[in-house]
Amino acid sequence: MSLFSPTTVGSIGVRNRVSLAPMTRLRASADGVPGPIVAKYYAQRAGIGLLVTEGVFPSAESKAYPGQPGIVTDEQAAGWAKVADAVHAEGGVVFMQLMNGGRVTHTDITGTDRIVAPSAIAIEGDTRLADGSKVAFPVPHALETDELATIRDEFVTAARRAVDAGIDGVELHSANGYLLHEFLSPASNQRTDGYGGSPEARARFVIEVAQAVVAEVGADRVGIRISPAHNIQDVWEKDDAETRATYEALIAGLAPLGLAYLSVLHGDPASDLIQDLRRAFGGTFIVNSGFSKMTTREEAVTAVDEGIADLIAVGRPAIANPDLVTRWEQNADENEVDQASVYGPDERGYTDYPFLQG
Ligand SMILES: Cc1cc2nc3c(=O)[nH]c(=O)nc-3n(C[C@H](O)[C@H](O)[C@H](O)COP(=O)(O)O)c2cc1C
Repeated sequence: MSLFSPTTVGSIGVRNRVSLAPMTRLRASADGVPGPIVAKYYAQRAGIGLLVTEGVFPSAESKAYPGQPGIVTDEQAAGWAKVADAVHAEGGVVFMQLMNGGRVTHTDITGTDRIVAPSAIAIEGDTRLADGSKVAFPVPHALETDELATIRDEFVTAARRAVDAGIDGVELHSANGYLLHEFLSPASNQRTDGYGGSPEARARFVIEVAQAVVAEVGADRVGIRISPAHNIQDVWEKDDAETRATYEALIAGLAPLGLAYLSVLHGDPASDLIQDLRRAFGGTFIVNSGFSKMTTREEAVTAVDEGIADLIAVGRPAIANPDLVTRWEQNADENEVDQASVYGPDERGYTDYPFLQG
């Protein structure tokens, strides 16, 4: 198979095996509405087979960053409908990453009276408020067992809203230290109520969320992203038997659902752990080798050629190259990312990167 050959994701055809990795770009309004520049940004990148949006919050208390978009209010949903229309007008396919930020936030960002997590353990360090000032991560409220259904249902409602807005599907963000990942790691989940304490128990909530979202919008419209053994935002996961057992339990619960895809962020996607999880999952498989070194054309081409994955998620190169797939097909030069403008606030460094001439 070639990176440039078409495939399907769920029941939708995509024109190549490149996927836009979800990337938080913080260009929404203060009330979480994605405006016209957001629609333009994704539409510019619609030549990428599968677009996955930035992490989008499914409830006010789960907003992680100022400038992050939500899918809670009618105004937010209307903004996403314009994104979907703009992408579809260019022949693209777009999934929305649903991201409950868990403890990676602050009440001054959410505007709520609490932030939530599996256990009352704060991240060491600071987060940044809208005015740029730094503030220590607070101790989160440990979710009561009977509150879990509400958190699950927020994902369900968000998925329904996204699909009703014309978005092609949703990706559950269970990676990178946010709420669902916090359930998977013993460092952030010390629960004793059947949702923590063993690999199966830690995997349980993520599986329940996936089941509920599938029941609402259909498995073809639901993907999931994980990052096994990714130590980030104080979700410490050793590369050991405990981590393997947790992710095996997770995939054992997810495989029967027939999800649209499993997307994995891991430094070595060809490793035994990741390929074993892929086999256990049995469906469309997307990889990204992580933050430490930027994805290259060669890495992406080789990964598909060698059958390491069905699609490759590409992040930073697609920030700077709206026509990334065309450039990669032609082996053309690439624009470089301007680091200063990655996280906003406006169209600079967002929708103004040049396309290839001619
Ligand atoms: C600016 C930026 C924002 C990101 N935001 C998200 C996010 O919202 N959700 C997520 O799952 N990963 C996020 N990531 C991780 C990327 O999806 C990807 O895994 C990472 O950039 C490594 O891939 P690359 O080398 O192709 O850039 C982000 C990365 C960057 C650079």
